Amino acid sequence: MKFFIDTANLEGIKEAQDLGILDGVTTNPSLMAKEGITGQQNILDHYLKICEISDGDVSAEVISTDFDGMVKEGEILAALHPNIVVKIPMVKDGIKALKYFSDKGIKTNCTLIFTAGQALLAAKAGATYVSPFIGRLDDIGYDGIELIAQIRVIFDNYLFETEILAASIRNTMHVIRCAEVGSDVMTGPLSSILGLLKHPLTESGLAQFLADHAKGN
Ligand code: G3P
Repeated sequence: MKFFIDTANLEGIKEAQDLGILDGVTTNPSLMAKEGITGQQNILDHYLKICEISDGDVSAEVISTDFDGMVKEGEILAALHPNIVVKIPMVKDGIKALKYFSDKGIKTNCTLIFTAGQALLAAKAGATYVSPFIGRLDDIGYDGIELIAQIRVIFDNYLFETEILAASIRNTMHVIRCAEVGSDVMTGPLSSILGLLKHPLTESGLAQFLADHAKGN
């Protein structure tokens, strides 16, 4: 499973990249705003900074919701750097935009996926990635992981090349469950990745090894 980090925070991206296990970055307008990045030029410059840190795919989201606007914005974003993936919302014109970019060989990520039907539509339109939001589904009493499993079956039935990018990951257990049900990618905060390191027996075992080594020296 590929590991993406879901942030626009440059320090966090660098920390994950330095671990050597980072495969890409996802952002959205809320994450950009959280970092205080506003104005079109500043936003474009920030995407470039992210691309300079990460050597994997970097999802950059359009703001428009109409076909012409999404195409115009997406082309500007795609021209920024070869690793940019144009992130398109799951709306009717978004499907048309996914097909447009797919035909041009530009990578896309269809965001705000909450049903298997939405994922199927995006895959048929040639999306490179679909982003089911598992945490937001869990928030309202649905099972986000079950959605990933359902999409996995559908994509495998028809050999869709579209990758499942599990998004709205909130914790380490989400990461593990995504791997169990065969998500191609997960994108989460740095804490969800670093949480994978932890076990009290690892910590106490290491402390014991180091103490025993110190006794013999
Ligand atoms: O990748 C989508 C993600 O940013 C949404 O996460 O935690 O706002 O539901 P969250």
